[in-house]
Amino acid sequence: MDFSNKNVLITGASRGIGKATALAFAEKGAMVGLNFRSNVTDAEKTLAELTGEGHQLFQKDISKKENTKQLVDDFITAYGRLDILVNNAGISIFHEVDKVDFDHWTHAWEDTFKTNLFAAANLSYWAAKAMMKTGGGRIVNVSSRGSFRGEPTKPAYGASKAALNAMSQSLAKKLAPHNIYIGVVAPGFTETEMAAETLTPVERENLLRESPFKRMAQPKEVAHAVLFLASEGAEYCSGTIIDVNGASYLRS
Ligand SMILES: NC(=O)c1ccc[n+]([C@@H]2O[C@H](COP(=O)([O-])OP(=O)(O)OC[C@H]3O[C@@H](n4cnc5c(N)ncnc54)[C@H](OP(=O)(O)O)[C@@H]3O)[C@@H](O)[C@H]2O)c1
Repeated sequence: MDFSNKNVLITGASRGIGKATALAFAEKGAMVGLNFRSNVTDAEKTLAELTGEGHQLFQKDISKKENTKQLVDDFITAYGRLDILVNNAGISIFHEVDKVDFDHWTHAWEDTFKTNLFAAANLSYWAAKAMMKTGGGRIVNVSSRGSFRGEPTKPAYGASKAALNAMSQSLAKKLAPHNIYIGVVAPGFTETEMAAETLTPVERENLLRESPFKRMAQPKEVAHAVLFLASEGAEYCSGTIIDVNGASYLRS
């Protein structure tokens, strides 16, 4: 895969899957814009690790709708055009229905949807408008295995990712005539900083048992699927959802 002369904007790229995706695109020749919310230290570290020159940081909280137009505008001011948007930023908040009060419940739903769905929808809107003017582009959305198998401790997370899948498929139909192709990658548990920070040893052991591979996904394995969907030749895959879950959850 060759991404020379392609300009790529990746949300949530300070660490984890977004970082691995940025590294992979830069290694294949792309110019990469790294969006993040607040973690300047990690974002700067990621920027320094990218192959090639000219990559930039774009700090914006994309859960605020006014920031989504600004982010796409800033990216196009910097690079002239946007070829590929990767909607990767996501949050997950525990809110078990039998354990939390209503205030916690409603905040979890609102905050999760603002980042995981509305930000992706709003950025897709501005990216599509820009891509229509330049003859086309690609959008890849990072969803989750949880969109299919349920998330009992984080129902808003599962619902937001299921909605992201549905939005992607609707946009794939709408935007194909404009040469804009949409793909989705649905990872299972992936060995990111978040996983290391939040899992107890017992939870980790249980998770490893879910896959016949007896391990989690590595961020670069998720990045590989993102790059495939964004690559030349993958156009007819528009609307597809690629599972990267080590055969831990197989859907028909
Ligand atoms: N890790 C997994 O096991 C797994 C499994 C399935 C799906 N996924 C999905 O994969 C994606 C990446 O997950 P990850 O594990 O790599 O996450 P992570 O390590 O927690 O990193 C999240 C990234 O998103 C950014 N972010 C969060 N809210 C944002 C906002 N409002 N505006 C801009 N940036 C924001 C963070 O920026 P700051 O660092 O500045 O806060 C960070 O760069 C998410 O969509 C997640 O749902 C992850």
